[in-house]
Amino acid sequence: MLTGKVMGYSEGRIFHVITYGFNVMGSYASQLDIEQRWKVVGYIKNMQNGGKAPAAAPEAPAAAPAADSATAAAPAVAAAH
Ligand code: HEM
Repeated sequence: MLTGKVMGYSEGRIFHVITYGFNVMGSYASQLDIEQRWKVVGYIKNMQNGGKAPAAAPEAPAAAPAADSATAAAPAVAAAH
């Protein structure tokens, strides 16, 4: 799915494949609700984009505090060794 024709698929096309299946691949509509299916589509598009988070990702600003806490935790990890 990261190469070939699926790279050119729109988000709606991938959503349709998840919902209705495609040839030998069955439908996942009974296992994934609509929101979950869109999240899978977003994940695929994100991976096809080289793993870069989309510009509109709401969690993007949270990366800065996370980096701070990782830095703060570093001395404790060093002391454990
Ligand atoms: C939610 C997870 C999944 C997504 C988003 C997904 C998506 C897709 C997409 C976009 C295609 C291309 C359809 C086309 O060629 O137009 C495809 C094909 C296919 N998928 Fe999945 N898939 C998923 C899970 C699975 C699983 C779990 C299996 C195996 C049990 C599977 C088996 C296949 C097969 C065999 C094809 C080729 C169908 C054919 O060309 O006849 N897929 N899938």
